[in-house]
Amino acid sequence: MNVPAPLTNLKIQYTKIFINNEWHDSVSGKKFPVINPATEEKICDVEEGDKEDVNKAVKAARQAFQIGSPWRTMDASERGRLLNKLADLVERDRQLLATMESMNAGKIFANAYTMDLGSSVNVLRYYASWADKIQGRTIPIDGKFFSYTRHEPVGVCGQIIPWNFPLIMLMWKIGPAVCCGNTVIIKPAEQTPLTALHVASLIKEAGFPPGVVNIVPGYGPTAGAAISSHMDVDKVAFTGSTEVGMLIKEAAGKSNLKRVSLELGGKSPCIVFADADLDNAVEFAHQGVFFHQGQCCTAASRLFVEESIYNEFVQRSVERAKKYTLGNPLNPGVQQGPQIDKEQYTKILDLIESGKKEGAKLECGGGSWGDKGYFIQPTVFSNVTDDMRIAKEEIFGPVQQIMKFKTIDEVIKRANNTHYGLSGAVFTKDLDKALTVSSVLQSGTVWVNCYGGGSCQAPFGGFKMSGNGREMGEYALHEYIEVKTVTVKISEKNS
Ligand code: NAI
Ligand code: MG
Repeated sequence: MNVPAPLTNLKIQYTKIFINNEWHDSVSGKKFPVINPATEEKICDVEEGDKEDVNKAVKAARQAFQIGSPWRTMDASERGRLLNKLADLVERDRQLLATMESMNAGKIFANAYTMDLGSSVNVLRYYASWADKIQGRTIPIDGKFFSYTRHEPVGVCGQIIPWNFPLIMLMWKIGPAVCCGNTVIIKPAEQTPLTALHVASLIKEAGFPPGVVNIVPGYGPTAGAAISSHMDVDKVAFTGSTEVGMLIKEAAGKSNLKRVSLELGGKSPCIVFADADLDNAVEFAHQGVFFHQGQCCTAASRLFVEESIYNEFVQRSVERAKKYTLGNPLNPGVQQGPQIDKEQYTKILDLIESGKKEGAKLECGGGSWGDKGYFIQPTVFSNVTDDMRIAKEEIFGPVQQIMKFKTIDEVIKRANNTHYGLSGAVFTKDLDKALTVSSVLQSGTVWVNCYGGGSCQAPFGGFKMSGNGREMGEYALHEYIEVKTVTVKISEKNS
């Protein structure tokens, strides 16, 4: 794909709260700063949504969902057409959105342009095509009755998203919710509200009725908590930390038992057997943990390598990790940008220090980089053991942990010995080994001889404390529909 240069005259047009297709100031009058993580400079201030603003957004979303409203009476195919129109507008503004995403989220511009924007458009088009294919069944129940199911929208959906893939996460939430006929209130992460607000303007331009999609920027414990504890929100979908996932479920339980779907963290095992194609395994294991500065929920952050190839694997992984050019992700040639903020940067450096103290061997990196911006050197640890913090905790940074194993039974036990269960991978040329490991790994996704390929057609989500429910693919639709059984008495029935 031909990637243009980033825009040099980017103007931030949208900084307010989007409710009912209109721009609102915050009720409190407060704003919050949005920072460029590569320079630590302020990009702009954004209106800070809180409980009162969430209440306004919920009212608008409820109004749009009323029986007889333009949204409820719209043909399902028309919902699909609107999502396709939104995809067209995102494509039209691709260069602008990629520039904004790169500047605000610290993403390498070429990746933002090709992957984040490409995948955002694909998700919208995928769910656009589902809109008029969501259908119930007729059911042969006992007796003289005619029985059928309707797949109805759940209602008003609150959606809380993180900062690592701001646009993609926005589309993962809007796409399935809207194609099923729900209305939504989305809270982008406080670090990265800008692309979501630009997309808000596109939602209006595409012609969605007012109140169908509302976007309320703000902080988690205020605006986020107002959504998860709201008595008139029917469902909440969340992507972020396991810690906050637990709070969301608790808030749902303490309020109106709203439906909850969660996509949380991971500490995903990547298992390399001695018979694997080594070049392939080294590269995928590397990308698996270093992509986007390690800020991926699927990060391959526990790499298990079979004893006989361990030393060579470590050596090649270190050579690979040393090849990076760090810098402002808008600049050509830069391959690694900054971490999202000071909090993440400090957390990662603390975990790196714990690795050194607990006796892992630091092979390269191990500290910060540059004199401004939240940059961390690509870091590789060898001789890592399962009890170290770096082998147990989600690091969310450019830090690779390489462990050694001897047998297949041993590595399966160790790989599953975690509360997380998001993803995992196995590298081997032996089909039997590949199938054995992929069937027993306790995780929502398993890759064989590759790592990290996701796509809107395939379901994604976690086992254990990595989450509940699935996003993407047909499975995601189940999170956004209620099934209603309608039974009608009839005078006679025939088979
Ligand atoms: P977080 O879970 O605090 O933030 C994610 C979203 O939840 C943001 O929109 C935030 O405003 C919101 N939020 C925070 N507290 C909330 C509350 N009490 N009620 C409702 N919403 C709330 O994640 P954070 O602090 O940005 O990162 C902490 C760690 O979480 C990372 O180091 C990483 O390990 C993990 N993480 C995982 C992600 C994933 O893709 N699964 C994405 C981001 C972080
Ligand atoms: Mg947090």
